[in-house]
Amino acid sequence: MNKITIHSPATVANIVCGFDILGFALNKPNDTITLSISDKVGVEIINEDDFNLPTQAEDNVCGAALLALLEETPEINGFKLISKKNIKPGSGIGSSAASAAGVVFAANKLLNNKYTNADLVRFAMNGEKVASGVKHADNIAPAIYGGVTLIRSIHPLDIIKINAPELHVTVIHPQIEVRTSDARQILKQNILLKNAIKQWGNIAALVAGFINHDYDLIGRSLEDVIIEPVRSILIPGFDEVKKKCKEVGALGGGISGSGPSIFMLSQNANTARVVENVMKGIYNKIGVDFQTHVTTINQEGCKVI
Ligand code: HSE
Repeated sequence: MNKITIHSPATVANIVCGFDILGFALNKPNDTITLSISDKVGVEIINEDDFNLPTQAEDNVCGAALLALLEETPEINGFKLISKKNIKPGSGIGSSAASAAGVVFAANKLLNNKYTNADLVRFAMNGEKVASGVKHADNIAPAIYGGVTLIRSIHPLDIIKINAPELHVTVIHPQIEVRTSDARQILKQNILLKNAIKQWGNIAALVAGFINHDYDLIGRSLEDVIIEPVRSILIPGFDEVKKKCKEVGALGGGISGSGPSIFMLSQNANTARVVENVMKGIYNKIGVDFQTHVTTINQEGCKVI
């Protein structure tokens, strides 16, 4: 096989309380990536969308991830990549991770599964570094493994897939720009012990809630006393969305990744639709354009199509 086309999913990083360590994949939207092995040295990039992303490999999320893989793959010279993104860059639902995870997943298929999933995460994190200035795996890992993932450590990589129940996800993407690098820069470097205690209580309980399929516990644990109070000021309508969506039955939710998207989890599809209408109503009132997605957690991650 010399050419392959794959789908790479959007993802929700942090899952509110688990900054940089928790994430899950979404069944939509997703990016389409076609990759082929090339005799030319390096990575040739063709963008078939309107996002004007860089085509120089070192400056491109896909390029950086593939160059990291090529460094350990002397048997081939390079790749040719055709990328069609549906996940808007800067949306907060893992656009850069879908690119970086998708290309290394596709490359691995062309290389007859030479690498483990953990290797793929390691390569793909080089793409995240191009996008946000730091390596983090909470979008990459769920994009590759599917489902809910916990990143206990990135040095060395230690990724645990969490067996979560089927959950419905509503996402609203206000059409404002929040750069991940900026949203990271505004965070405080020191936190109070009492906040840390609350946060790790929530993280542990959220994971327990997923594993035990305890929806009430999941809802109670979707609380962030460290990151959300700082970042939510960048997102108009955030507090109202959170409050009103819970009033109509959402389990809970918060900022998706570094924002500006907001996500809510629900136990059934009907509630997820009602939540979407509540979100739309609030943003129509505020007068900010938006896009919404109503979907479920994707258990599979990247897949060949
Ligand atoms: N964990 C990262 C952050 C995710 O919140 O900055 C970025 O999508």
